[in-house]
Amino acid sequence: MKQLKILIIDDEKLIRWSMEKHLSSKGYLVFTAETGEEGIRQFELNSPEIVFVDNKLPKMQGLEVIAKLKSIEEETIIVFITAYGSIETAVKAMKAGASEYVNKPFTFEEVDVVLENINSRLKIGKEIQVLRRQQKDIVTFDHIIGESAIFKQILQLSKKIAKTKSTTVLLLGESGTGKDMFAQAIHNESDRNKNPFVTINCSSLVETLLESELFGHEKGAFTDAKQMKKGLFEVADGGTVFLDEIGEINQATQIKLLGVLENRVVRRLGGTVNIPVDIRVVAATNKDLKKAVEEKTFREDLYYRLKVFQITLPSLRERKEDLTILAEHFINYYNVQFQKNIGKLTEPIIQILKQYDWPGNIRELRNVMERAVILESLNTLQTDSLPTDIASLHEGKRYGAISRYVDSPSAEVTLGSPEFGFSTEGLSLYDIEKQLIKQALQKIDYNQTKAAELLGISRDTLRYKIKKYLL
Ligand SMILES: Nc1ncnc2c1ncn2[C@@H]1O[C@H](COP(=O)(O)OP(=O)(O)OP(=O)(O)O)[C@@H](O)[C@H]1O
Ligand SMILES: [Mg+2]
Repeated sequence: MKQLKILIIDDEKLIRWSMEKHLSSKGYLVFTAETGEEGIRQFELNSPEIVFVDNKLPKMQGLEVIAKLKSIEEETIIVFITAYGSIETAVKAMKAGASEYVNKPFTFEEVDVVLENINSRLKIGKEIQVLRRQQKDIVTFDHIIGESAIFKQILQLSKKIAKTKSTTVLLLGESGTGKDMFAQAIHNESDRNKNPFVTINCSSLVETLLESELFGHEKGAFTDAKQMKKGLFEVADGGTVFLDEIGEINQATQIKLLGVLENRVVRRLGGTVNIPVDIRVVAATNKDLKKAVEEKTFREDLYYRLKVFQITLPSLRERKEDLTILAEHFINYYNVQFQKNIGKLTEPIIQILKQYDWPGNIRELRNVMERAVILESLNTLQTDSLPTDIASLHEGKRYGAISRYVDSPSAEVTLGSPEFGFSTEGLSLYDIEKQLIKQALQKIDYNQTKAAELLGISRDTLRYKIKKYLL
């Protein structure tokens, strides 16, 4: 779980100092401010989840500060610090948006109780989010785009797996190939879809936290375990647990995970009973797990348990047949988002996209299309809306287009790299492009279609450039 941030706004140095020391030792990230104004600045700078606000501050009063913080971020949790007995002010603070209060002088125990309340509320909030997410953006196989033979086969297979009750699935594939999407679709198209889909990224947590997140802990299992906490396997009961980046888990957790898969029970940290869980595990990694087994960093028995059903998602360069349909899918998506009306891709653009290697796979394609839709001012995508490293793959194509004209007596175009004379002021690319367009138009008697072809760009791009340079 991520480290919670707490901001203390209090003009008493001793309180700021002692609270910072105490809360830091509890694992919080603590910021402090002496005045309301400084507090608001710190708040905007660090976005803490929890803020302690003292009532009596030098200029801006506590109540005013609370109202301001709430207006910046409605979700902020505010703990009001007030003098003992001033119930009326505490009520006002609650009305302004504080959800807890402590009376001065307070003990650390009191602060801890307040934070425990907040933490359990945040955790419930998180669980609700898991459920909400399940209801809101439901990914099914219909959302997964791909028509190539290899991809169709994978889709068919995955649909069959989804229908099995609890078969474990191992998703392999480079980053951005759709492992997340498949995990969600498998859950959403299974009989488990009324129950939670819980996902955990195994690489984002330190070892001990990962264990307590997965398996939960009993009260008192370790110093900070003040309350019993259910692990994600328990929370997901009846549903699916998605273990992302499974290649990152350590040996001890690997053994425990093996136990869960073999016996379908979990034992909380510090617990003595086995709790049965009805879950499907979907695991994913972009690591070579087989190699990790050979190198003995990943347990062989766990590997075989996980790969009951293994799906290797192809990289985008292995299924370039799907590029057009995927790119157009994203264009349609971003058309709606940015109120644009960009139509089908032109052949030159498709060729450029196909020449590129897509190391970031579909995620990269998606980002490139988002950027292109934002930048494009015409209704057909032009090369100059693509990132330069992709657009520059166009060059080979351009010579191809020119070569069609070399036989034509009216077009005296020479192939190869032309020599440019650089004067002391250098040479502007802008001027070269302008000259090139002018010359192309003159050579082809101002026939825009032919000039565009000569330049290896679409007619729309040429029109756009004519407007930019020549009008
Ligand atoms: N076949 C597909 N059809 C439509 N969108 C896809 C497809 N595959 C992936 N995407 C989109 O590409 C992006 C990356 O996919 P996803 O997060 O599933 O990849 P991943 O394999 O889990 O990557 P990582 O290993 O980095 O976690 C997402 O925005 C997803 O919506
Ligand atoms: Mg992923």
